[in-house]
Amino acid sequence: MAYNLLKGKRGIIFGALNDMSIAWKVAELAHEEGAEFVLTNTPIALRMGTLSELAAKCNAQIIPSDATSVDDLENLVIKSMEILGGKIDFVLHSIGMSPNVRKGLTYDRLNYDFYHKTLDISAMSFHKVLHVCRKLDAINEWGSVVALSYVAAQRTLYGYNDMADAKALLESIARSFGYIYGRDKKIRVNTVSQSPTVTTAGSGVKGIDSLIDFSERMSPLGNATAEDCANYCITLFSDLTRKVTMQNLFHDGGFSSMGMSWRAMHQYDKSFRDCVNDGD
Ligand SMILES: NC(=O)c1ccc[n+]([C@@H]2O[C@H](COP(=O)([O-])OP(=O)(O)OC[C@H]3O[C@@H](n4cnc5c(N)ncnc54)[C@H](O)[C@@H]3O)[C@@H](O)[C@H]2O)c1
Repeated sequence: MAYNLLKGKRGIIFGALNDMSIAWKVAELAHEEGAEFVLTNTPIALRMGTLSELAAKCNAQIIPSDATSVDDLENLVIKSMEILGGKIDFVLHSIGMSPNVRKGLTYDRLNYDFYHKTLDISAMSFHKVLHVCRKLDAINEWGSVVALSYVAAQRTLYGYNDMADAKALLESIARSFGYIYGRDKKIRVNTVSQSPTVTTAGSGVKGIDSLIDFSERMSPLGNATAEDCANYCITLFSDLTRKVTMQNLFHDGGFSSMGMSWRAMHQYDKSFRDCVNDGD
């Protein structure tokens, strides 16, 4: 059911690759809620993914950009304002990539050029987006900028690798820039810390299936899906959350507040008994 929460609002949505992407679900819902927006991704993602399908469905235009390039971002923001007919009201940063994860290099054996790329793509790009939007005065007062994060920014989760450092930086940028943008222009900047979700980026994380099962067992409300995440992002773009800024907002069914749950303990006991029975 649509509530017209984003009627008359204009935005830019980064990071929809295919119909599993969290950004894809956000775009579909933003469209239903009355927003107009531009979709963007890297030229290679545009070739490999299916973004044009989403664009057709949402009546949106696509502008290619690499979010690590300030020149690309300037072009994107200027053209978006031209296409949409004015300043924008919301931005979704739904971008993450680690070449170390892709190459299977563990945290104690990182390649430092790759590490630099992880931080640039997954975190510094958020600073660049905010910087370019502010320089071009592209966001209306009470606008809202959201980036997607993960609990590994605060707690160590096996296999998340250098993406944990990128997410910690991302969340810090939301606070540091959120202060400046809030003070100057009343613009909100937040991160949403989402449950593990089956997407192209998510599938790259080592042991993702076990991680999803573990957090499902640990979370009293169960894991949040990509559709759930889209619902939450829409509220953050809407006028209903005007005084929420500089926050890392957990959207994880309660996982981040848990230590041990009955369902996880039950599974742990079961495997422990199996080990004892096996004579281990
Ligand atoms: N899937 C999960 O388990 C999960 C959990 C918490 C947070 N997140 C975060 O959600 C966000 C979206 O990821 P997703 O799970 O939807 O996966 P996804 O693979 O669908 O999206 C990642 C996107 O980043 C884009 N990207 C990569 N390099 C880029 C660059 N240089 N410039 C612009 N875009 C670039 C990719 O093309 C892709 O569209 C990421 O920040 C991810 O870390 C994902």
